[in-house]
Amino acid sequence: MIQLEIDGKPVEVKEGSMVMDAANQLGIYVPHFCYHKKLTIAANCRMCLVDIEKAPKPMPACATPVTAGMIVRTASDKAIKAQKGVMEFLLINHPLDCPICDQGGECLLQDLAVGYGGSNSRYNEEKRVVFHKDVGPLISMEEMTRCIHCTRCVRFGQEIAGVMEFGMLGRGEHAEITTFVGKTVDSELSGNMIDICPVGALTSKPFRYTARTWELSRRKSVSPHDGLGSNLIVQVKNHRVMRVVPLENEAINECWLSDKDRFSYEALNVPDRLTKPMLREGTNAGAVWREVDWPEALEFVAAGLKRVVDAEGSSQIGALASPHSTLEELHLLQKLMRGLGSDNIDTRLRQSDFSANAVAPWLGMSIAQFAELDRVLVIGSFLRKDQPLLAQRLRQATKRGALLSVLHAVDDDLLMPVANKLIAPPSQWVDVLGSIASPDAAGSAASSSASDVARAIAKSFTSGSSKAILLGNAVVQHPQFAQIAAVAQALAVATGSKLGFLTEAANSVGAHIARAYPIQGGMNAAAMLDQPRRAYVLLNIEPELDVANPVAARAALQSAELVVAMTTFKSAVDQHANVMLPIAPFTETSGTFVNTEGRAQSFNGTVKPLGEARPAWKVLRVLGNLLGLEGFDYESSEAVRTEVTGGATDLSARCGALDVQVSGESAASLALAPGSLEPGDLEPGELERVADVPIYFADALVRRSSPLQETNDAAEPTARINSRALASLSLVSGDRVSVVMDDGEAVVACKRDETVADGCVRLATAHASTAGLPSLFGAVTITKLASADTNAGASVDAAASVVGQA
Ligand code: SF4
Ligand code: SF4
Ligand code: FES
Repeated sequence: MIQLEIDGKPVEVKEGSMVMDAANQLGIYVPHFCYHKKLTIAANCRMCLVDIEKAPKPMPACATPVTAGMIVRTASDKAIKAQKGVMEFLLINHPLDCPICDQGGECLLQDLAVGYGGSNSRYNEEKRVVFHKDVGPLISMEEMTRCIHCTRCVRFGQEIAGVMEFGMLGRGEHAEITTFVGKTVDSELSGNMIDICPVGALTSKPFRYTARTWELSRRKSVSPHDGLGSNLIVQVKNHRVMRVVPLENEAINECWLSDKDRFSYEALNVPDRLTKPMLREGTNAGAVWREVDWPEALEFVAAGLKRVVDAEGSSQIGALASPHSTLEELHLLQKLMRGLGSDNIDTRLRQSDFSANAVAPWLGMSIAQFAELDRVLVIGSFLRKDQPLLAQRLRQATKRGALLSVLHAVDDDLLMPVANKLIAPPSQWVDVLGSIASPDAAGSAASSSASDVARAIAKSFTSGSSKAILLGNAVVQHPQFAQIAAVAQALAVATGSKLGFLTEAANSVGAHIARAYPIQGGMNAAAMLDQPRRAYVLLNIEPELDVANPVAARAALQSAELVVAMTTFKSAVDQHANVMLPIAPFTETSGTFVNTEGRAQSFNGTVKPLGEARPAWKVLRVLGNLLGLEGFDYESSEAVRTEVTGGATDLSARCGALDVQVSGESAASLALAPGSLEPGDLEPGELERVADVPIYFADALVRRSSPLQETNDAAEPTARINSRALASLSLVSGDRVSVVMDDGEAVVACKRDETVADGCVRLATAHASTAGLPSLFGAVTITKLASADTNAGASVDAAASVVGQA
């Protein structure tokens, strides 16, 4: 440790710290622009000059290492004169249009100019002007003249997002920040550059000119998207959410947000919002929706459910809920179903193999432990898109020397070093994983290069002190989930690693804790659709986009006598439901999400519910009362939460050790779930489907956020096939093809993609264009319907080859 003195106060800091770190430890503010605690030191703004005894000139606090006995003055005449000098230079070319600047009121330059700027300028020369750029729907670069070249945005790309999307062109007064040859910014973390830009150069395009910072009320919330549970500050004006920014929480999201956390609020007030309860009247063909009041709608639902229970038995009712629902909503839904005598409830909508015991799908460790891992095997995860901020943590871990290995069917660029990767069709994952567990026995089944990689993965796990095997969404959705999980568990035990899930939804863990899955012989999500029920209660789902088998979902709901849909958006269910009850999204209700590490995070509503929408927990409570069920007299959502959690916030003990029991049978002897293929099962002309859930189709909110829908990540799905498979099918990029699976079909364009494993086609789910396919996995036949426009096909090919080279 090093002892020094800053502004007369002694402080002790670690060797290698900078003067800025020591000042921060003392709570002394040193003005700065380019310094950011999460980024490397650039020391290019010089705003942090301080006076260090015995140093002839002022030194930058962010880049000057501490030495024993150093005496620093941050506000001496010498320091202030230097800081004012830097400010004068900075303002030479700055437009100083604060009154019309979107950053006004929350601008570091504006704030510091008050303290360090002169009252007038000594310069009469013309100011430079930097041309604006269009970099996509999320970030506005309309005012690049305001850029002070701190390079925080450049360093963020390189160091945090893993991709350098901005760079600085030119020198001196010709320097400017830009993307490469007119490209858009496509990182799933790009919005953070808006936050870290200290001036109004990078601003939020959707928010721009809609409110001033001082008009906004700030309310805490929790992200309803992936399993991380990022902490949010929701900024509100006139009962409307205007902007979402990160609430710093080092243990969870640090100071970052993924773009879907940040921009999904744009869906909150779309015309598609359901603002009144509605009943469908008439037959299917001539059905019309009629707005009704809440009492009529709830009485209709209660009477309908009673009728089905009395006439057909309680097992004829099934409940399907989104794992993005809150803990309170899921608890009340399962209580309602069980009160009616039905154990048919599930949130595992994209799962097809339920033969493993219902393990809590949690990370198996804290996020802090996750960040410290030094050996990691990630199986079946579209990591960057499914878990943008956990991927970022892993990126930092690899920089510290962690060895990352990957088993997947696509070789996505994770934007971090991958020590070993095994790219194999999903039908081979059990065998390939087995070959990692017993690398010496692998030779016969796997190709020699695959068994070499398996050996390298096994070898990497012979060292290291903090190891994990992580199962991604594609494993949970896989028709051989139980087998993969069981082999992964055996591998974890053998290598002294933790086993964990990279959980899919905001409340996948909470759904388990709320027991929103069958526990007394009831039906799981797939069974409820394969064996249609007479009545369904849908909570917050879009049946054609959120389930593994949209074809079965459509048929089951169409044949049902009663479909009750609690929904935020009309279009989510208006083709399927008999009654739609408008429920509040996360910003309009209180609730709790349990994140991937088992941490319960509660939040309050930030705005009033829109129209007559109501929090779903209140709707379920009233329904419980109307149905005459016991224990539905809650005064508040806190009372519901306490009933589930007992007031605890750390629920990791309730998740427990991940012990995958496979129905008492050996994993290898399990019957295969529908959609599963044995290795080598494909007929000539068939490919195996690999179905990702694209990041901006993952839930109802992001699907309706127009800025997110304008990004490249929201492009319509294509059948992505590598060049060998394309040639074998006589296709070229851009051809329209029919993709047939059993009796379902999707018509899409095909696209050359060398990252896809041999024998596979990557075709996304969760999109209307692929909702005709009955499984996320299994064999598909692809036939050409129409040729690509020659030029379009050529340009797609050219683009693919550029990406391949990159
Ligand atoms: Fe004013 Fe800051 Fe905008 Fe510059 S970037 S015009 S200092 S508010
Ligand atoms: Fe810094 Fe903003 Fe300019 Fe990037 S755009 S260099 S963050 S001022
Ligand atoms: Fe130290 Fe920029 S903050 S040089």
